[in-house]
Amino acid sequence: MMMVSKIFSLLQFFTLFTITFASTEEATALLKWKATFKNQNNSLLASWQPSSGACSGWYGVICFNGRVNRLNITNASVFGTLYDFPFSSLPFLEYFEFSVNNLSGTIPPDIGNLTNLIYLDLSINQISGIIPPQIGSLARLQNLYLADNHLIGSIPEEIGYLRSLTELDLSTNSLNGSIPPSLGNLNKLTLLYLYENNLSGPIPEEIGYLRSLTALALSTNSLNGSIPPSLGNLNNLSLLYLFQNQLSGSIPEEIGYLRSLTELALSTNSLNGSIPASLGNLYNLTLLLLYENQLSGSIPEEIGQLRSLTELALYTNSLNGSIPALLGNLNSLSHLYLFENQLSGSIPEEICQLRSLTKLYLSNNSLNGSIPASLGNLNNLTLLSLYENHLSGYIPPEIGYLRSLTQLDLSTNSLNGSIPPSLGNLNKLTLLSLYENQLAGPIPSELGNLKNLIGLRLSNNQLSGPILSELGNLKNLSSLDLSNNQLTGSIPSSFGNLRNLRILFLGNNNLTTEGIPSFICNLTSLGVLNLSRINLKGKILQCLGNISGLRYVKMSHNNLSGELPPSICNLTSLETLDLGRNHIMGAIPQCFGNMSGHLELEGKIPRSLENCRLEVLDLGNNLLNDTFPMWLGTLRELRVLSLRSNKLHGPITTSGSEYMFLELRILDLSRNDFSKNLPTSLFQHLKAMRTIDQTSKEPIYLGDSYYHDSVTVSSKGLELELLQILTIFTTIDLSNDKFEGYIPSIMGDLIALRVLNLSHNGLQGPIPQSLGSLSSVESLDLSGNHLVAEIPEQFASLTSLEVLNLSYNHLEGCIPQGNQFHTFENNSYEGNDKLRGFPLSKGCGNDGHDTYNGSVLNEEISE
Ligand SMILES: *[C@@H]1O[C@H](CO)[C@@H](O)[C@H](O)[C@H]1NC(C)=O
Ligand SMILES: *[C@@H]1O[C@H](CO)[C@@H](O)[C@H](O)[C@H]1NC(C)=O
Ligand SMILES: *[C@@H]1O[C@H](CO)[C@@H](O)[C@H](O)[C@H]1NC(C)=O
Ligand SMILES: *[C@@H]1O[C@H](CO)[C@@H](O)[C@H](O)[C@H]1NC(C)=O
Ligand SMILES: *[C@@H]1O[C@H](CO)[C@@H](O)[C@H](O)[C@H]1NC(C)=O
Ligand SMILES: *[C@@H]1O[C@H](CO)[C@@H](O)[C@H](O)[C@H]1NC(C)=O
Ligand SMILES: *[C@@H]1O[C@H](CO)[C@@H](O)[C@H](O)[C@H]1NC(C)=O
Ligand SMILES: *[C@@H]1O[C@H](CO)[C@@H](O)[C@H](O)[C@H]1NC(C)=O
Ligand SMILES: *[C@@H]1O[C@H](CO)[C@@H](O)[C@H](O)[C@H]1NC(C)=O
Ligand SMILES: *[C@@H]1O[C@H](CO)[C@@H](O)[C@H](O)[C@H]1NC(C)=O
Ligand SMILES: *[C@@H]1O[C@H](CO)[C@@H](O)[C@H](O)[C@H]1NC(C)=O
Repeated sequence: MMMVSKIFSLLQFFTLFTITFASTEEATALLKWKATFKNQNNSLLASWQPSSGACSGWYGVICFNGRVNRLNITNASVFGTLYDFPFSSLPFLEYFEFSVNNLSGTIPPDIGNLTNLIYLDLSINQISGIIPPQIGSLARLQNLYLADNHLIGSIPEEIGYLRSLTELDLSTNSLNGSIPPSLGNLNKLTLLYLYENNLSGPIPEEIGYLRSLTALALSTNSLNGSIPPSLGNLNNLSLLYLFQNQLSGSIPEEIGYLRSLTELALSTNSLNGSIPASLGNLYNLTLLLLYENQLSGSIPEEIGQLRSLTELALYTNSLNGSIPALLGNLNSLSHLYLFENQLSGSIPEEICQLRSLTKLYLSNNSLNGSIPASLGNLNNLTLLSLYENHLSGYIPPEIGYLRSLTQLDLSTNSLNGSIPPSLGNLNKLTLLSLYENQLAGPIPSELGNLKNLIGLRLSNNQLSGPILSELGNLKNLSSLDLSNNQLTGSIPSSFGNLRNLRILFLGNNNLTTEGIPSFICNLTSLGVLNLSRINLKGKILQCLGNISGLRYVKMSHNNLSGELPPSICNLTSLETLDLGRNHIMGAIPQCFGNMSGHLELEGKIPRSLENCRLEVLDLGNNLLNDTFPMWLGTLRELRVLSLRSNKLHGPITTSGSEYMFLELRILDLSRNDFSKNLPTSLFQHLKAMRTIDQTSKEPIYLGDSYYHDSVTVSSKGLELELLQILTIFTTIDLSNDKFEGYIPSIMGDLIALRVLNLSHNGLQGPIPQSLGSLSSVESLDLSGNHLVAEIPEQFASLTSLEVLNLSYNHLEGCIPQGNQFHTFENNSYEGNDKLRGFPLSKGCGNDGHDTYNGSVLNEEISE
């Protein structure tokens, strides 16, 4: 009956009878809805006119028997909501296609009133809210597409009532909760797409009942549990995407029953166990993606039966054994990705039969033997990546036949012999990476033909001969690394053409370059420059300051001399400047301080500082690896020395002169590896710390108009950034080093000290009584040492003391009482089990507390 009436109305259409709305109510309802669109495409919906009684003229409206049967308004830039949709006024609506618009708001529950609906497509809109369970009333629904919206909440169980459904696509929303097992009722379903949501929980076994399924995509969710073996029942399945979930367990053998599969993607999960040999039965498979799992065992030989495969990606697993020679049968294969596994043995010669191969990635395995010369047959290869293996022997000159290659990476192997000149034929190459091998001989001049090269990495080999001036032709080069070879001669001036160079590593070669060549300054894109250990002589170029993007400069272990040019200070991005092991002299430019936010000094403390008239030297938080620079003691003006947090080490010993560190007020050697005894002889000097300046009441700041010194010191348990340093602020911080032995009693002479921190060392013996003379001390931290015996009674007279930390030592006896000692709490003493007296619970007898009882509470009760 239905069919007859459709044909009848089509006939009416073609004979150009005017089809009018049988029910004016339908036209009125549609117009009312249209009126709610805030920003409709007027040119499209202009045909919706109150005056027109003919429904055939309305854009996207199709009537049968004068009743609205289809609404198809796809991709029409309609902005609006479904709130005023006439759900009750269109009882004959079967097709509602509104995809690719700008519908917003939620799906009204009244959608369930469109009980004749067969087809509902609201995908690619801005719809939010939940999927109303009332959708389960649409008993005739065959196609339900809500993909690519902002839907939240869980998939209503009621969708499982839609027994007529053939296609269900809820992908690319924000649905959560688990997949309702009721979906297993939808036995006509051919397509089920739930990918790109936040679905969790396991894949219901019931999905395996959906015998009609041809496409199942649950990828990019948070599904866990194992893959149900019931999926093996889906014998019409052509596409199975379960990638990017948290699936665990092994790949069920039953997946191998899915004979119709063309695409199988289980990648990026936590699947373990081995790859089932049964997968070798999936003869129609074109795509097999199992990468980024924890699969182990060897690659089953049966994979070699998958003659339709175009892409095989098993990378980032724990596969071992050798690469099956049978893979050589996969003559449709275009991408072979086996990198990041534990594959061993040699590269089978048979791989070289894969004439369709464009990408071959076998890197990060344990492959050995030599590179088969017949790889040169794979003339469609664009990417060949064999790095981080144990490949040995020569680089076959036949690689030079691979004219389509854009990237060749053979680095970190044991390849020897020389670089074949034939590589110069690979004129599409953008990356040539051969570093960390045992390649010897000269760099072939033919490499100068590789005009498209962006990266050339030949470091860590035994290459000899001169650096070719032809390399200066490679104008696209961004990264050039020739370091750690035995190259000779000078840096060719043609390098001045490499205007795109960002990384230049030439360090550790046997060059005879005189000075730093001035064309280096023309390389204005440079960010990273390593010219260490190449026998550089002469001065550091003033023009280096023009390479404003320089972040890393290493020119250590050369014969550079002269002064550091002030232009260095224009390098505001500089993070590392290593000029160690040279003969650079003179003052560090004053502007240096401005950059220290980024700058990390490495190596030794430059002896050239000896010549400066420094007041403040802050080399803190660097990577300096040196012993204590006692020679700085001769800087008569030095008031602040911070070497905090470096890799400084060894004992601090002083020579005889009594004029050492005369004006020093802040000495911060914390967070280094200084060892042995505290430097008694150093404390004999430090004149400024031994005298209290009564004359100046006004704070005086260090520094002058050129710079404002700032230094971070630990004071009173806080890290203070003293933007300007009070001249009367006196500190010794020797904490977090490896000092041992006794605290020298001479430290009691440093009566101007405000802060003394000796914590976290290996100091032993008793606390010297003399420290009780530090009448200015406000903060005293001796915690985390091996100090023994009693706290000197003299400490009670330290009336400036605000912070005292003696915790984690082996102190015993009674805590002094009176003055500041009323204010200290338990945490000043914790970790000293034998200490007694206020504020601890063990009493001391002389303060009213019971000596023997455990707790203050008990004592108070007993009183
Ligand atoms: C509106 O409809 C007209 C007529 O079909 C079309 O040419 C135009 O591209 C549409 N505008 C938008 C923004 O979609
Ligand atoms: C809707 O119309 C477009 C063309 O405008 C067509 O491609 C599509 O198949 C139609 N959809 C339905 C469900 O009829
Ligand atoms: C929507 O229509 C435009 C042309 O009006 C077209 O370029 C675009 O591909 C269409 N989008 C979809 C998803 O069909
Ligand atoms: C849809 O049907 C329900 C009852 O089945 C009714 O309460 C509701 O009003 C209807 N919605 C509209 C918009 O008529
Ligand atoms: C929806 O509107 C936004 C801007 O509000 C626009 O960028 C987007 O292309 C629109 N989408 C469609 C399908 O018209
Ligand atoms: C495999 O593909 C071929 C050709 O497309 C097709 O004829 C055959 O039915 C497919 N096999 C299965 C089991 O789907
Ligand atoms: C190699 O690539 C060319 C061009 O893309 C293509 O026509 C040819 O079929 C490919 N050869 C093989 C064996 O796949
Ligand atoms: C460095 O080169 C010089 C000649 O320029 C040569 O005498 C010397 O042996 C070379 N050193 C090394 C380690 O190759
Ligand atoms: C640096 O480049 C300029 C042109 O920008 C050129 O005149 C000069 O010769 C180059 N200097 C060197 C040393 O290559
Ligand atoms: C730093 O660069 C500016 C221009 O950018 C220049 O005027 C100034 O001379 C440079 N300073 C030094 C010390 O080279
Ligand atoms: C310091 O340098 C020496 C060699 O000069 C080296 O052996 C040592 O490992 C370095 N220490 C640190 C902590 O880097």
